[in-house]
Amino acid sequence: MTHFTARAHTNIALLKYWGKADTTLMLPTTTSISLTLDEFYTDTTVWFDAALVADDVMLDDEVMTGKGYDKVTRFLDLVRDMAGETRYAHVHSANHVPTAAGLASSASAFAALAGAASRAAGLALSPAELSRLARRGSGSASRSIFGGFAQWDRGHDDLTSVAKPLVETIDWPIQLLTVIINDQPKKIDSRGGMQHAKATSPFYDDWVNRSNALVPVMQTAIANHDIDQIGQLAEANALQMHATNATAQPAFNYLTDSSWQVINLATRLREQGISVYATMDAGPNVKLISRPADTEVITAALAEAIPGVVVRTATPGPSIKIVEGDQI
Ligand code: DP6
Repeated sequence: MTHFTARAHTNIALLKYWGKADTTLMLPTTTSISLTLDEFYTDTTVWFDAALVADDVMLDDEVMTGKGYDKVTRFLDLVRDMAGETRYAHVHSANHVPTAAGLASSASAFAALAGAASRAAGLALSPAELSRLARRGSGSASRSIFGGFAQWDRGHDDLTSVAKPLVETIDWPIQLLTVIINDQPKKIDSRGGMQHAKATSPFYDDWVNRSNALVPVMQTAIANHDIDQIGQLAEANALQMHATNATAQPAFNYLTDSSWQVINLATRLREQGISVYATMDAGPNVKLISRPADTEVITAALAEAIPGVVVRTATPGPSIKIVEGDQI
């Protein structure tokens, strides 16, 4: 009953994944590019136990049930199949991410689960193999195996749809200010939202074509450390993704009035010469791509616009870490 613990960090997509070409293999319609974040992560310990009659899954000291539990056990079945493991597993997970608020906790959760479960089952997977496995739990998790900037190639089958590091160590100033908007928790999860947008938005194919065309442009912007180019591309890509939701039938929306206040504030700050760009996922929170040197002026402007708003700073984070034992 060897225990393994993995720590995986969340990532925020600068070019988004929003729709699947294959829902079983979790092949996306777009190649996506992300930044892994230091401040938000999941720690997960896994051990297999012949005495269990079902998987035992705990998240933040609570027993997990329902849809979340089913996703975890289905994922563990994949690991068991790969490893020839027949026992059920204990999964004890601690999320250091505001859960289900558009901060991509499923990315760090399934990356950490892939890491800890595969090792506990006796597998020694390469980073690319881990990325493929994590993808099957949650698409965005494929990118959380790597630190810094990562790219998930959409690929055309299980082997080719895999993330890779673009730049793992970032020695120039870039950060994401996460503006936590508590207007309401999201009602439509990303899995359902992206499927509905793909199935019904008349602009969906255009979103895919535009997003894929931006991949080499974003790569160049990253190579040049060009925060304005990165930010412009990311903000446009995010707004286009949200436009597929606004034009779905029926339409739906993750962004609230407060989200728009923050997006508009970024526009105003740029007019004052500050490099700050917004990106949003499947929730109301807005992440502001910016330089650490501008944190004070941005947070002051936010506090004035939305009194009491909570802002968390997130800097580039590392790749997954896996250790034997319960502690990381
Ligand atoms: C908006 O990876 O959570 O954050 O693969 O169905 O689990 P599933 O979806 P998930 O979707 C993330 C969508 C996004 C954009 C992104 O992270 O690329």
